[in-house]
This record gives sequence, C-alpha cells and structure tokens, in this order.
Amino acid sequence: MPQTQFKELPQVQINEVAKDPLNEVIKNASIQERPCEETMDYYKNWASDYDKDTSDAQYKGPQITAEALEKLRLPKTARILDVAAGTGLVGEELRKKGFTNVDGLDGSQALLEIAQKKNVYRRYITALIGDDRKAPLDDNEYDAVVLSGAFSPGHLYTDCLPELIRIVKPGGYICWSMRDFSCYSERFREDKFNEGVEELCRVGLWKKVHEPYTFQNFLVGKEGKVYSMLVTK
Ligand SMILES: C[S@@+](CC[C@H](N)C(=O)[O-])C[C@H]1O[C@@H](n2cnc3c(N)ncnc32)[C@H](O)[C@@H]1O
Repeated sequence: MPQTQFKELPQVQINEVAKDPLNEVIKNASIQERPCEETMDYYKNWASDYDKDTSDAQYKGPQITAEALEKLRLPKTARILDVAAGTGLVGEELRKKGFTNVDGLDGSQALLEIAQKKNVYRRYITALIGDDRKAPLDDNEYDAVVLSGAFSPGHLYTDCLPELIRIVKPGGYICWSMRDFSCYSERFREDKFNEGVEELCRVGLWKKVHEPYTFQNFLVGKEGKVYSMLVTK
C-alpha cells in the first residue's frame, strides 16, 4: 500500500488525543455549565484522587498564583483568603513562600477536609459563593484574596467579584490564575469575562496591577492567565 494513504488517514486526530494527557475527570470538571450543587457532587466523588490527578497533569495554577501574590510584596503576616481552596494546593504554595496567616474557603466540605489534614489554613470555611450569595465574612476582613482554578464553567464567574471585593480592605489585592478561555462555553469567552473585570474598574472598585498575562502549562499543554487587581473602593 502506498505510504501516502497512511498520511491521509485520521492520524492527526489520533495524535491529538494521545497528546492530551488530561484524564477524563479533569477534563469534565470544568467543561460544562451546571448548578454549583452538581459541581460539589462532582468534587465529592473526585476528592480522594484530586491531588494525584492534578499532580499527574502537572497543574501549575497554585504555584503561579502564589508567585503572583508574592510579587505584590505584602507582609508575610498579611491576612489572606484562598477562595475555592479545594484540597489546599494554593495554601501549600503560600506556606512555602512564608505566608503564615491564610484562610481557605470552599463549597466542598470533602475537599476542605483534605486541606485540613495538611494544616495549611488557619480557618476552613465551607461556603458557596456566586449567584448573589453573601460569604460568611466581614467587610474589609482580608489584605488579599487569591484563587486558582476557580473561574470556569460550573464554578465561579465574574458575578462573584463584588463580593470578593467587599471582604478585601481598600489597598488590598485580589489575584488569580485560571485556565485560558479557548476550551470553554460561550459565557466564558475571554472578551466577556474581561468585560466583567473592566466594569468594576469603571465603577472604581478596583484597578489592574498589570494586564492579564499568559503562562504555559496551567495544566500540561494548556495555557493559563494571571490577573492581579488592587482594591480601590
Ligand atoms: C479546580 S478546583 C481548584 C481548587 C484549588 N484552588 C486548587 O487550585 O487546587 C475548583 C474548586 O472550586 C470550588 N468551587 C466551585 N464552585 C464553587 C462555588 N460556587 N463556591 C465555592 N467554591 C466553589 C470547588 O469545590 C473546587 O474546590
């Protein structure tokens, strides 16, 4: 058989699948819009394998988020809240950098119990945010809020940003990393997400510390974005 026939077979498609090392559990966690209660069920089932699966996928979001926070030169005793903290991967990275006063909030009790075993946060707060829910936290309680992997379909969206701003002191920071937008739903188009961020700049609640920047390998082979915002309310 002439070799050219092989070249025309669906080799590219097979290669693409082989090249994508993300397992189905990771791929399906964030790919579809769904009520957050369903997302919590998803994480409950995934909880015991989450750290191994994200490690296998060389998940760099927590490290990149901690580096972004470190660049803001807050004191190591600054009060920090890790929102959508999960099993505490961001908390672990912040601890490596010397931050000593970090709380974790997540909607999933199952994930926070794993974080608790690592002893990475001072407080473990089980709460859902978004959709006009009020976090069980005071105004201006934190010097900074950090998030990694929190913004995606079925998770958090820009509607929760005013609530995050409420709990951060004026002059404090909110910074996050997230997967790039290319794989996501219509609602998660980059321009729409950024419009939500910009609107809060226009009304004077915060301003950008830098333009959002891209980094390689949020998960292996997938780009990520970093945002750092200064709260100016
Ligand atoms: C991809 S995991 C990221 C966890 C952790 N930040 C990390 O980097 O490993 C997304 C997290 O968001 C949490 N989450 C999703 N929707 C939420 C909501 N509406 N309120 C609070 N937590 C939520 C999930 O329970 C999960 O822990």
